Amino acid sequence: ATHKLLLLPGDGIGPEVAAEVEKLVAWFTRSGIAAFETERDLVGGAAYDAHGVAISEDAMKNAKAADAVLFGAVGGPKWADVPYEHRPEAGLLRLRKDLGLFANLRPAICYGALADASSLKRELVEDLDILIVRELTGGVYFGEPKEIVTLEDGQKRAVDTQLYTTGEIERIARVAFDLARKRSNKVSSAEKHNVMKSGVLWKQVVTAVHGAEFSDVALEHVLADNCAMQLVRNPRQYDVIVCDNLFGDILSDVAAMLTGSLGMLPSASLGAEDPATGKRKALYEPVHGSAPDIAGQSRANPLAMIGSFAMSLRYSFGLIEAADMLEGAITDALANGARTGDIAPAGTNSLSTTEMGDAILRE
Ligand code: NAI
Ligand code: MG
Repeated sequence: ATHKLLLLPGDGIGPEVAAEVEKLVAWFTRSGIAAFETERDLVGGAAYDAHGVAISEDAMKNAKAADAVLFGAVGGPKWADVPYEHRPEAGLLRLRKDLGLFANLRPAICYGALADASSLKRELVEDLDILIVRELTGGVYFGEPKEIVTLEDGQKRAVDTQLYTTGEIERIARVAFDLARKRSNKVSSAEKHNVMKSGVLWKQVVTAVHGAEFSDVALEHVLADNCAMQLVRNPRQYDVIVCDNLFGDILSDVAAMLTGSLGMLPSASLGAEDPATGKRKALYEPVHGSAPDIAGQSRANPLAMIGSFAMSLRYSFGLIEAADMLEGAITDALANGARTGDIAPAGTNSLSTTEMGDAILRE
């Protein structure tokens, strides 16, 4: 089967790191491991310059037709003054909304060779491999009412509303359990049922989905604040952590700092499974932005983007061995000393973006 990949490199270092993925796509195709049909399109400032919008209708159509979208990064000082609705980020928000990407996957992997770059001691993080599954389209960031009102006594009152339905919790729970089966078979569900009704329902629904469909997976419930503490005390106790939008935002940033550089962090956002094909809409992107300070100098670390491509092999294309091979190449290249500037010790020589891509290809 031919796998349909849409590449949206975007702005700044986006095209530089995307070019390294294109080399890998070509290699996988040449070596007969997998055949990709790759489309390219514009997003963010690049799309605004060409079409006057942050993503064109044509690119949206391509995104909906693709098996996976690989997104670089958008934004930069050049577009600071474009109209709000056309700002570069609007392209990413439109993709998330129109593709219904409700499950955000943020792996936190600490490569042994980089363990000293972690915020924690090496012995706590060496070979750490956890996956945070964050609900991305519901909860307090979207719930209505959402407002600031003026009271009779002149004070103001701010309101945000945490809302979750059974269906929203069920579908994110299923994603987490399903992923756990492909990993170490353990899910930790983080909420605050002790003080929040949404936490009570979250815990009930996760427990019910587990009992009905995933009783082979180990499940534990953890209070979200305790989870934050445990992440910096003993992170390797976790495999998959599932949580709502707000707690996931915070816990994934905590986990990110366990691993070292922003240039190393991949992510995936998944939509609902199509019952006819079993496929999900999916977008893969590095966590970092367009890094205007180093753009155009071949200094960007392409590993977050390459790791995002590896996630697409695993989760969208079902190419598990290819994903293992690519992730193994990252581990081996790092173990053999390959370093871009962001992860090289001060005063040592480092590789350019293209040299790092070549190092991965060699492995
Ligand atoms: P940033 O992630 O672009 O950069 C933060 C710092 O990390 C910079 O010093 C940068 O050089 C460094 N860095 C980031 N990625 C790197 C990589 N792969 N290799 C080496 N060093 C790397 O965040 P910042 O500076 O806050 O935002 C810059 C622009 O990116 C803004 O326009 C912002 O809106 C946009 N942005 C876009 C995102 C996206 O497309 N998803 C996410 C975050 C920011
Ligand atoms: Mg955040």
